[in-house]
Amino acid sequence: MKLRELVFINAFVVALTLALVNYYFQGNIYDLLLTFIITLVICYIVFYYLIERYIYSKIKLIYKLIHNLKLGKDLKDALGEYVSDDPINDVENEVKEWARVKKTEIDALKQQEQFRRDFLGNISHELKTPLFAVQGYIEALQDDAMEDPELAKQFLDKASKNIDRLSLLIKDLDSISKLESGEMQLNYKKFDLTVLIKEVIEQMELKAKSQTIELIFKDKYHIPTLVYADRDKICQVLINLIDNSIKYGKENGTTAIKTFELHDQILVEVTDDGAGIEEKHLPRLFERFFRTDQSRSRQIGGSGLGLAIVKHILEAHQQTITVRSTEGLGSTFAFTLARAKSSFPI
Ligand SMILES: Nc1ncnc2c1ncn2[C@@H]1O[C@H](COP(=O)(O)OP(=O)(O)O)[C@@H](O)[C@H]1O
Ligand SMILES: [Mg+2]
Repeated sequence: MKLRELVFINAFVVALTLALVNYYFQGNIYDLLLTFIITLVICYIVFYYLIERYIYSKIKLIYKLIHNLKLGKDLKDALGEYVSDDPINDVENEVKEWARVKKTEIDALKQQEQFRRDFLGNISHELKTPLFAVQGYIEALQDDAMEDPELAKQFLDKASKNIDRLSLLIKDLDSISKLESGEMQLNYKKFDLTVLIKEVIEQMELKAKSQTIELIFKDKYHIPTLVYADRDKICQVLINLIDNSIKYGKENGTTAIKTFELHDQILVEVTDDGAGIEEKHLPRLFERFFRTDQSRSRQIGGSGLGLAIVKHILEAHQQTITVRSTEGLGSTFAFTLARAKSSFPI
């Protein structure tokens, strides 16, 4: 019911009662009508004024509370904007909306809290593993392994490998924290993507060979593909993706890199014929420290941050990355880059 209707009904009841009482004592039909009309008008105006004032004083408090407004000009503006014919209904909707917003805020905070806790747990776990290994080898050397030079060398090699892993992890953590805090500046340049891909392939060739994997980038890509991005960061993206395709590839497998020209973007695909990824893991693949097979992935090495870094870099470029994969058949990681317009400086 609207405020006006409510006031009218009240005024009507009072006016009717008064008029009837008047008629009972006076017995005059004109008096009845006159009393009725005058009382109705006066009651309507007075009730309306009083009720409205009462409601507004309550509503004001609610608005003040949910909007953190100062009573005064702010509030008048807000009330002017929100309150229509039906202030109670308005305020109900407002409060519902306010509750919804607060609930989403709280949910997001809870999620962040969980994220932070997981992240801390993951970091300490990741640091612990290689650190304890190094500790173990050093202790073994201190005890008696030194007497056997062959064994001593083996232990030192293993300790050194674990130190390498530690520094890799710290390097990746450093990149990710810089990317997340927005501290890392992108150094946009126009460059030839095909040249960069060839450079990265050359750099990764040895590692690929050692895992009997062939890196393929067809000859047809000899014409320049000009993109506009941060060259070093995109180099990192390619290295991380190709590195994964080698690590999770199969014996005598292949990794193919392809580029496609879209309207104003270039699509880059890194496809392997390796282990593939179960569908249920795909949505979480780009999360920090996510691994499909914890023990195996950790054994192969890597910080578990590679794909998270890749995603961050591409998002900073306002580009996207997607993954398609079939378990046992292989995976394709595809990302976009902005095509350089000819007017861009090199
Ligand atoms: N090409 C791929 N084939 C199969 N699994 C992959 C591939 N790339 C990534 N993964 C899975 O995604 C996980 C996350 O990758 P990444 O963030 O690079 O971490 P890391 O390489 O250090 O394990 C890997 O541990 C692996 O389980
Ligand atoms: Mg990786």
